[in-house]
Parts: sequence; structure tokens; C-alpha cells
Amino acid sequence: MEVMEISAGGHPVVFGSDALRALDRRIGAEEYSRAFILGDENTLRHCLPELLAHVPRLRDAPTLAVAPGERSKDIAVCSDIWRHLAEMEADRHALLVCIGGGVVTDLGGFVAGTYKRGIRCVHVPTSLMGMVDAAIGGKTGVDLAGLKNMVGVFHDPLAVHVHTPFLKSLGKRELLNGLAEMLKHGLVWDAAAWNTIGEAPLHDIDALKPLVERSAAIKAEVVKADPRESGLRKVLNFGHTIGHGIEAHSWESPQRMLLHGEAVAIGMVCEAWLSWRMGLLSREDYDAIAMRLLALYKPYQFSSADNHRLIELMRNDKKNSGGRFRFTLLTAIGKAKVDVEVTAAQVQEALEHYRLLVREGGM
Ligand SMILES: NC(=O)c1ccc[n+]([C@@H]2O[C@H](COP(=O)([O-])OP(=O)(O)OC[C@H]3O[C@@H](n4cnc5c(N)ncnc54)[C@H](O)[C@@H]3O)[C@@H](O)[C@H]2O)c1
Ligand SMILES: [Zn+2]
Repeated sequence: MEVMEISAGGHPVVFGSDALRALDRRIGAEEYSRAFILGDENTLRHCLPELLAHVPRLRDAPTLAVAPGERSKDIAVCSDIWRHLAEMEADRHALLVCIGGGVVTDLGGFVAGTYKRGIRCVHVPTSLMGMVDAAIGGKTGVDLAGLKNMVGVFHDPLAVHVHTPFLKSLGKRELLNGLAEMLKHGLVWDAAAWNTIGEAPLHDIDALKPLVERSAAIKAEVVKADPRESGLRKVLNFGHTIGHGIEAHSWESPQRMLLHGEAVAIGMVCEAWLSWRMGLLSREDYDAIAMRLLALYKPYQFSSADNHRLIELMRNDKKNSGGRFRFTLLTAIGKAKVDVEVTAAQVQEALEHYRLLVREGGM
């Protein structure tokens, strides 16, 4: 049986071509009253049949479906699921199997962490973002009043089982979305991973498999070293301070809404530039990073009049306590430095640099 298991601190992450059969055995070894499956309409259609084919123990499990998309990360949706579980007499020993992207694992993890003060759950990520990032690490939550992840708990799943063939039904845009986090993992932690992802074969899921597994392992290693995000885990915030600002800004004009990873890719260009500007990163490394990211992700156009709003949106970010900006920056490809204080003027310079870069279409 081809299975590998690594620890993410509070839970294992399982890979390999038999990761789903390993899930069947894991469930068989647990004492639980009844299992329930949570997915969204897409993941239940594209991935559930394959899950059930490999995990026969779940064949009788009732299925709960939510609508696809971020809007399902809502307390009203949680209420519906809590109510359904109660109606089906799910008790404290029930098991929730979450099969889906980050929306399903964030939502399902939160439901599991709160129903009857916490039941066990297992995550089976189906999107690239889920496999390398969202499903790993025990952070769960829902959005509130348009603000992301405002309500949540840390709730480790029993395990995360990664079955990369699920990616075959995922569209190219969603693959690129997850790829941004894989690139980030390389930049902050593992130069070799950054180099190999360079030729990421997005059209060939079998060839992508080892890169996905390495990236998930990086996330697991970082989480294991800092399970409650008190220090080291902040390396994962690289690209996210400016990225979140850009993401929120793009949501203000619905016709050009960016996916999270697309915004983070832009954030990484800006923050790599800041790293160079502040004397931490070589110009050569910055150029290599910007060239790779600009080739993969479409440019985001804005005018300098937008800089003010972008900075305001970044200030709302919970990472920027006390109005100051604290960035995770790079000191080399594969090495990050957390809690670097940056002024609003420097952030503005970085935005301006990116704006001119994509307007002129060159480096
Ligand atoms: N908890 C964490 O540490 C963490 C980390 C990163 C992101 N997140 C959260 O994850 C969410 C984003 O995750 P996402 O990008 O996976 O979004 P998502 O869950 O909305 O999935 C993206 C889309 O792909 C579809 N899909 C998923 N797998 C599929 C498959 N195999 N085949 C066909 N379609 C499929 C989904 O139905 C959805 O329409 C955000 O809410 C974000 O806040 C959480
Ligand atoms: Zn992210």
C-alpha cells in the first residue's frame, strides 16, 4: 500500500496513491456512533463517488450539501448543518467527513469544533488550495458581515487525507489559485521547492503530485512548529498583507473579483520588492520572483488614486495591530523574516512600483 504520513502537530497528513484506502482503515479503527459527509454541490458530484469507491465504510453515511463558494462560510449555513445533525440524532461520538475545498473544510471544521462542544472530523481536500493549505493546520471558521474568518475555533481534524487525482476535475483558474500558495511555500521555506515548481505541469496532475505533496508537507512542518500561530507560522503570511488589500479592493468592483491566490501572487510581487527595497533581499532574487509571478498571473490594474483605499483596506487586516504594518518579508528565496515593520509610505511605494510594472508590461 503506497501511503505516507507526516505530522502537522495536532493531526497527521496522509498522502500517496492509497490515501483513501488508508482513510477507510482509519475510520475502521475509530469508535464512533455514526459518520456524516459534508461537501458542496461540486465536490459531491465530482469527488464523492470516488471517495465511496475507496472508503466503503462511508457508503451508508448521510450526505450534507452546501452551495459552492465563499458565501457558504456563513453562520446561517452552520445553523442549518447543526440543525440537520441534531435532527439525525448525531451525538458527541459522531464523525464528520469534510470533502471539498477550503470552504468546506473551514466550515465543516468549525461545525465539528462546536457541535455538542466538539465532535471528530476528517478532511479530504479536493481543491489544490485545500490540499496544500486550507485543510491543514486546524484553523476553522466562517465569515461575518463581509469580513473573512471573523468567527472560528482551532479544531484539529483526526487527519487530512490527500488524494491528488481529485484535482482532475478542477479548472485551470482554481489550479493557479492553489499554485500561488505552493509558490509561497517555496519562497518562505524551501528554495528547492520553488525551483521545481517553476515548471509546474498544471495540465498533468500525475506529474504535479510530488509537488503538491511537498507543499502540503511544508505547511505541515510550519504548523507543527507553531500550532497556535504565535510566531513562526507567520512566515506563511508572506504576500498576504498586500494580497488581502488587493483581494478586498477587487471585491469592490464585482466584474474583476480576484481569487485569493491571484491576489496573493500580486501581494508577493509587491512584498518581494519591499524585501529588496529594505535591503533584505538581493535584486537578482527579486527579479526572478517577479518574472515568474508576472508570467503566471494576470496583472491587476489600478490607478495611483486607488493607493489610499488599498492601504486603508490593509489597515483593517487583523495582522496589522495598532495601525502599523508588520510584514513577513524575504531575506532570500526559501527564507523569510517575520514582524518587519513597514511604513504606509513604503507600502505605497511598493504598490506604485507594481502599478507601473504591469502598466508598462515589463520589468
Ligand atoms: N483554514 C486555513 O488555514 C485556510 C487556509 C487557506 C484558505 N482557507 C480558506 O479556504 C477557502 C478557499 O478554498 P478553495 O480555494 O479551495 O475554495 P472553494 O472551497 O470554494 O473551492 C473552489 C471551487 O472549486 C470547486 N471544487 C473544489 N474541488 C473540486 C474538484 N475536485 N473538482 C471540481 N470542482 C471542485 C468548489 O466547489 C468551488 O466552486 C477560503 O474561504 C479561505 O479563507 C483556509
Ligand atoms: Zn493564503
